[in-house]
Amino acid sequence: SDQSVFDVDVWTLTRFVMEKGRKVKGATGELTQLINSLLTAIKAISSAVRKAGLNHLQGLAGQVNVTGDEQKKLDVLSNDLVINMLHASYGTCLMVSEENENVIYTPAEKRGKYIVCFDPLDGSSNIDCLAPIGTIFAIYKRASDGEPTIKDALQPGNQIVCAGYALYGSATVVAISTGTGVDFFMLDPAIGEFILTDRNVKIKKKGKIYSINEGYAKYFEPAVNEYIKHKKYPEDGSAPYGARYVGSMVSDIHRTIAYGGIFMYPANEKSPKGKLRLLYECNPIAFLIEQAGGIATTGTQRVLDIIPEGLHQRAPFVAGSPDDVEEYLSFVKKQK
Ligand code: AHM
Ligand code: MG
Repeated sequence: SDQSVFDVDVWTLTRFVMEKGRKVKGATGELTQLINSLLTAIKAISSAVRKAGLNHLQGLAGQVNVTGDEQKKLDVLSNDLVINMLHASYGTCLMVSEENENVIYTPAEKRGKYIVCFDPLDGSSNIDCLAPIGTIFAIYKRASDGEPTIKDALQPGNQIVCAGYALYGSATVVAISTGTGVDFFMLDPAIGEFILTDRNVKIKKKGKIYSINEGYAKYFEPAVNEYIKHKKYPEDGSAPYGARYVGSMVSDIHRTIAYGGIFMYPANEKSPKGKLRLLYECNPIAFLIEQAGGIATTGTQRVLDIIPEGLHQRAPFVAGSPDDVEEYLSFVKKQK
């Protein structure tokens, strides 16, 4: 018939999350609710990023929208969406957001047992030129009883229960893992659902692309520059690597998982711990990279094993195909 290509038993992310929750003994459905609420926020952010409601966002004449309200910037709007949806899920007790200096406590009557660390709109320098941006999140279970404290938010990445990102690229895709591999889901705007497109994605053992902001070469440690030089002028007769750098971690990482290769935001003289934030950028991405069979390191340590000390602390970050990251580490070792 004319509808024969319509999948009547489609695997949506909502269904996938519910199904996974069912398989966990004693599960209450709290995590399922939390993730589904988060996905609602992501759909709304995706719509805002695509400027689906153009006049709501900008107004026809510029800064002020048609109702006369001050225009809400995309990153503020995304932050508010995530926070409100998570509160409404009854699954969180506290959150850490890139946009908030302090932890965000869930009102007592809406508390659940999870902690969510997130970057509501990563890659903010890409917003105004319509280049890809993303949302990143990591979910933890609280380890203490009683009133939640900042300590509950300072768990190492190896305690992550679920992590993921949404990429607002040529399509909106969610990559998510609960510790049993990584799955990709593509947003189908016709039904407003994420559809499973790639199950148990594995990163290539070795790629052909390196991804770094090479403009900082002057400030990099020698090992980084030596490694980059080796990618451009291989001494062993192999082909040089291609270079790609979108400048939004989510895009650069999504490409790295999909095509293989290496992504780097190492320390440099100007920022001795790099730029990326441990709790809501490095850790969730490191978790996904490892779940896809890759490696995520600071150069001296596994990212997921860092014991966090501050909500917004930074960490040098190198991640990707295992052979590529190992090769980088061999340059670090040579330098010492
Ligand atoms: P942001 O949180 O202010 O958007 O910064 C994070 C972003 C990452 O997505 C990206 O990898 C990096 O900053 C790019 O920084 P740079 O412009 O220094 O290369
Ligand atoms: Mg960010």
